[in-house]
Amino acid sequence: MAITINYKLKTGVHYSCFFNFYPKKMKKLILFCSCIIVFSACNQTSQEQQHKEHAHNHSHYQADVPAHKLIFPSTTPDRIIVNLTEDSAHSFAVNWRTNQEIDTAYIEIAKETHGPDFLLNNHVKRIRATTQFIKTENTRDQEPLVHAAYHSVIATNLEPETTYVYRVGSGAKNSDTWSEWFQINTPAKDTNKAFSFIYFGDAQNDVKSMWSRVIRKSYKMMPTVDFMLHAGDLINHSESDKEWGEWFYAGSFIHATVPSVMTPGNHEYDKGSNRKNLSALWKPQFTLPENGPLEELKETCYAINYQNMKLISIDAQSFINSQNSRNAQTKWLDSVLTHNHKKWTTITMHYPIYSTKKGRDNKELREMIQPLIQKHGVDLILQGHDHTYARGYASNQGLGKTVVENAGAIYAVSVSGPKMYESQNQEWMVKRGEYTQLFQIITIENNTLNYNSYTPKGTIYDSFSLVKDKHGKKTITNNKPEIGVRHRKDFVSKK
Ligand SMILES: [Fe+2]
Repeated sequence: MAITINYKLKTGVHYSCFFNFYPKKMKKLILFCSCIIVFSACNQTSQEQQHKEHAHNHSHYQADVPAHKLIFPSTTPDRIIVNLTEDSAHSFAVNWRTNQEIDTAYIEIAKETHGPDFLLNNHVKRIRATTQFIKTENTRDQEPLVHAAYHSVIATNLEPETTYVYRVGSGAKNSDTWSEWFQINTPAKDTNKAFSFIYFGDAQNDVKSMWSRVIRKSYKMMPTVDFMLHAGDLINHSESDKEWGEWFYAGSFIHATVPSVMTPGNHEYDKGSNRKNLSALWKPQFTLPENGPLEELKETCYAINYQNMKLISIDAQSFINSQNSRNAQTKWLDSVLTHNHKKWTTITMHYPIYSTKKGRDNKELREMIQPLIQKHGVDLILQGHDHTYARGYASNQGLGKTVVENAGAIYAVSVSGPKMYESQNQEWMVKRGEYTQLFQIITIENNTLNYNSYTPKGTIYDSFSLVKDKHGKKTITNNKPEIGVRHRKDFVSKK
């Protein structure tokens, strides 16, 4: 006779007893198995009680949570990212995450050397980080509660045009609680030396699966790029720790070695608050300039000096949300541009002033921001949101001439992730495109700006150069791309 006794604890662990026995021994064996069950149940109750009483200030890895490694922090730093500061030639900001066992954290920084000699003779400077404990629970996507510690440092008093090495960690000796050493360059101080940056439209969806190849290809094509710019909607659900985990995973060490700037899109604002509240993770995981016009616009509306370029982020969602924000950002932008002595000026904002499809135009931005763009001769407006591509200028009139003088500001809308919409031909567009993931490498050297838009295959989809004479008069040359316009309908029939 055979009896199998199964007992499943609430933790999911199965206990089982399997016996072959003779009837006369049955009583003893049943008694034995019953003892095991009673002991296990008591032990489980005791563990649950201890678990409840244990003061939770950290997250546990949970193998039964999908993508748990993307969500839960550990004592080893992750989500390491460098941000540009207002004064990029002399400082940079570093942010990272651990679990809450790490309540004190540091960056160590030194000038790079040919070998390990930067570790000798006190060359390494240690700076204590600002640490904040953050608790997130994205109930919208049934994600688990996450306790994390976010750390940030602004390294200051740096020398321009210098390569530094840095690592982040707990301060312990020979411990796994440190990151590897990363290299990072500071730019030249207000010179006309060449520099490059990469502009990404919305990554937003399937970021680990489908956006990773875009940022990685862009880095492969230009590993010496000076910084990366994200024009909003980096992720889809603002409070999704998993999606933010995918974004950091996709960029991995690139985020730690190439500085980034980002402007928030509508998807960085919480849908549950009717897009009124910025993601609870935006400020903990990034350190962006706080020189905007309102307290609520710190790290979303700001200005950066980068060599001979002024780079400005307008918080487009906040702009749409309130008259107060509109007035403050408009007045602030007018003031920043009035006192701007840089040769080049770029504005990034998520919502386009010229949309790629009728009915998607943003009236408030066009009425209030565009006059300032014209008044102050802004060169480049880099935008997202439309999940299509277009680039042009107000004076194009559908002509698409090769060489144009005084074309005015150039507007671009781009998309880097896989979510794709349709667009319509409009007079301002020189080139448009659908169903194409893109990144743009923009190089500025003295009086010349070169812009190339690439597919993930490294093929030039759109290209132009802009030259300024000493009076500020601009000539644009629209270069011939390597491929023609791609339409969504050529690949998918239904909407
Ligand atoms: Fe958007």
